Amino acid sequence: MKHLLKMLDLSQQEIFEILDLADKLKYQTKHDIPHPMLEGKTLGMIFQKASTRTRVSFETGMYQLGGYPLFLSANDLQIGRGEPVQDTARVLSRYLDCIMIRTFAQKEVEDLAEYGTIPIINGLTDFCHPCQVLADLLTIREYKANFDGLKMCYIGDGNNMANSLIVGGLKVGMNVSVACPDDYRPDQQVMDFAKDFNGFSITNSPLEAAQNADVLITDVWSSMGMESEIEKRKIAFKGYQINDDIMAAAKSDAMVMHCLPAHREEEITAKVFEAHAKEIFDEAENRLHAQKAVMVKLMLPDGE
Ligand code: CP
Ligand code: NVA
Repeated sequence: MKHLLKMLDLSQQEIFEILDLADKLKYQTKHDIPHPMLEGKTLGMIFQKASTRTRVSFETGMYQLGGYPLFLSANDLQIGRGEPVQDTARVLSRYLDCIMIRTFAQKEVEDLAEYGTIPIINGLTDFCHPCQVLADLLTIREYKANFDGLKMCYIGDGNNMANSLIVGGLKVGMNVSVACPDDYRPDQQVMDFAKDFNGFSITNSPLEAAQNADVLITDVWSSMGMESEIEKRKIAFKGYQINDDIMAAAKSDAMVMHCLPAHREEEITAKVFEAHAKEIFDEAENRLHAQKAVMVKLMLPDGE
């Protein structure tokens, strides 16, 4: 594994290696066992969009690993004034050991990887959010022990989270059901990947998708960059909500996850959110542990 650009690029074995290392690093972190595996390494973090979890978990994670995290706001970089990503990649490769980037176009992340000579981590694009989904898989495995036979249900926009959850969920062996409005389906590349799996289904009925689900996941109706569509989307997504009716359709011990930030009474009711706050905030914590594993895998490719 040279980069983390999208879940489609990872093999099942690579995903499990990241999760196993994340478990180990989580144990060390929780027990105050020092693990300065990335001493002397520097991570550059480029943000073209807002972030709470991604920024703080990468920055803290790098510090805990003994390395140095460098926050780079796109507004302050020449990239924000039009310097090509191809040139930025070649320059930053001379200074840094790894780049994490959050931006709009997936192509920008792929270009960084193509033109740079250091590992690139996708910290969210309009297409996908692999760091979040690795943390989600870590959380599901913690709660359910393994993935075999589990049904993961995603309700809402066919967005970056849906794209990554479908691929990640199917790759680790879960059944994946998706409910989204007909006009807001996941990316065609993801649909093409998923069509070969018997365990994949997609519908516009949230209740149908949620039947006997072990894991229920949702995300905002309007992602970052879609601010002008908020009112239109509020109408299109009405009913695409995790609420008591959805919980009643799922298994009685179903867990609920949300990548956050959440919009209560839109994609999830406040009641369901608070009843499942434990899972949701364990999921947020696991961003730290999963990403530390990704950074170690990428910056110490010959083994930790
Ligand atoms: N879930 C997530 O990526 O959160 P941030 O936007 O706060 O980084
Ligand atoms: N789909 C959301 C996820 C935020 C972490 C967005 O892109 O804004």
